[in-house]
Amino acid sequence: MSFTVAIDGPAAAGKGTIARAVAAHFGFAHLDTGLLYRAVGMKGGDPVAAARALSEADLARPDLRSHAASDAASRVAVLPEVRAALVAFQRDFARQAGGAVLDGRDIGTVICPGAEVKLFVTASPEIRARRRWLEAGGETAPETLDEILAQVKARDERDMNRADAPLRPAGDAVTLDTSDLSIDAAVARAIAIVASRRGPRQGCPSAN
Ligand code: DC
Repeated sequence: MSFTVAIDGPAAAGKGTIARAVAAHFGFAHLDTGLLYRAVGMKGGDPVAAARALSEADLARPDLRSHAASDAASRVAVLPEVRAALVAFQRDFARQAGGAVLDGRDIGTVICPGAEVKLFVTASPEIRARRRWLEAGGETAPETLDEILAQVKARDERDMNRADAPLRPAGDAVTLDTSDLSIDAAVARAIAIVASRRGPRQGCPSAN
């Protein structure tokens, strides 16, 4: 039987770390849906054609974590036809037997509105920028904290204000603000929420 955990939130709020940890804890499969948009953005050419023809090899590109990929992703993610082309793949993944965790921006609102658990993981832009800056080396990072903060805010702006599937919490999502939480504390909270919800609900709709 399928069991879907939908995790949405802005960049660098901790949703990827939480999604991986929840999946490992419960033995669920995990899909980082941002990778789909990153792969479409990096493929070049017509993004709609790229989304329709997305392959395993596209998803295995080594440069999908780069800033260029992130920027390209947020540009193609505003296109409704690109989003539509990626729906079936995500829904199929969500409905697999054994359970699935999907993290992204619209999982609880559009892809799986009937997910058994919906988390909205967030943190202030300043905290998220500081995390990115420290990850990139802190004082030795190629970009300043202010530059990274500007990028975080620009990406939030694009993700939250696009017409199709904007980033926002589903009405029945539990918000997890990680601004003042350690990674371990945030993961523990997410696991506790999922554990408390394991019971039958309507689930993710079928792909077609
Ligand atoms: O989570 P990420 O940084 O890999 O996301 C890259 C971009 O893709 C980001 O600007 C938002 C977009 N995205 C989206 O629109 N919907 C998703 N489900 C996942 C990512």
